[in-house]
Amino acid sequence: MYDRVYNFSSGPAVMPEPVLEKASKEMLNYRGIGMSVMEMSHRSKAYDEIIKGAEALLRSLMNIPDDYAVLFLQGGASLQFDMIPMNLAKGEGRTGKVDIVMTGMWTKRALNELKKLAVPHIVASSEDKTFTYIPSLEAGMFDPEADYVHVCWNNTIYGTRYPELPPCERPIVADMSSCILSEPVDVTKFGCIFAGAQKNLGPAGLTIVIIRKDLMEGAPDDLPTMLDFRTHASNGSLYNTPPTYAIYMCSLVLEWLRDNGGVEAIARVNRRKADTFYKFLDASRMFRPTVTGTSRSIMNIPFVTGDNVLDAEFIAAAESAGFKNLKGHRSVGGMRASIYNAMPEEGVQKLVEFMDSFEKKHV
Ligand SMILES: Cc1ncc(COP(=O)(O)O)c(C=O)c1O
Repeated sequence: MYDRVYNFSSGPAVMPEPVLEKASKEMLNYRGIGMSVMEMSHRSKAYDEIIKGAEALLRSLMNIPDDYAVLFLQGGASLQFDMIPMNLAKGEGRTGKVDIVMTGMWTKRALNELKKLAVPHIVASSEDKTFTYIPSLEAGMFDPEADYVHVCWNNTIYGTRYPELPPCERPIVADMSSCILSEPVDVTKFGCIFAGAQKNLGPAGLTIVIIRKDLMEGAPDDLPTMLDFRTHASNGSLYNTPPTYAIYMCSLVLEWLRDNGGVEAIARVNRRKADTFYKFLDASRMFRPTVTGTSRSIMNIPFVTGDNVLDAEFIAAAESAGFKNLKGHRSVGGMRASIYNAMPEEGVQKLVEFMDSFEKKHV
């Protein structure tokens, strides 16, 4: 009806169609108030209900206990590479110890910031094989004195995800930008979970931080106000003007998820979508997945033909057939299909059929 394409972008990414429809209906007059959410004061009663409702829904969908704060921030997941060490790495003069597992570009970026704000220790790395796997981790590899352990739970660019919790004693800080709400996680096993919204939560401009309150409370007292988690926690994320419209869109995405059975239900759909894709890739004579075994992501699936010219031909043919944004990240090349919560199963099936027919024409 709307002539929409299948958008396999890694982010900003596809949004659920019912969410876009609802937002468009509420654009000019939000629920009888006579203005758009964009035009509303963030101190108004109507907006208070939106932001509180979003937090309550996220808490219920992810079973977030009361001893965790939920913050709606700006600055992207990238700002968390600074805010988290500023708040959580202890020690005088930036001497706090932080463990980090290197699994790709987003942990490299986090490491760069850690070098400025703490004393990082690389626990393990998968760089030897272009980050195509999650390194196997043992308890003895971690520093028992680290303030926390930084991991990227789902590596958007390389298509890997942690198959299990790292065996460490210290609090785990997980970048879940590209997998939040894609399958159940036990929040109590983490010290902090953060995510940019633009993949599974809503539009860009909003970052969610879920943090154990006791960790946040131990932050140094001289932090800049806006970079102190306590500022945002004690003001219900309303210390200054939050990204009001992005939070509203996020609340609609959360409602959509709740109405479709919640995280367990979407996880079943996500596994089916990923299985369909990997099954095809594993059997294909033309396309090859770059990740094998238990490290495979169910959100981002990179694949190659092994021939750059053929890759480019495939991407162009797919674009013309309505399958958009399949080009791999500029640092790895090839192709990548990002199949977030909002990508319908039908989109994955149709892409696989298209790949099959492309293969038959070329092999
Ligand atoms: C896993 C992961 N972490 C961090 C980022 C950076 O997020 P932002 O652009 O919101 O700063 C991204 C962006 O794609 C990502 O995929």
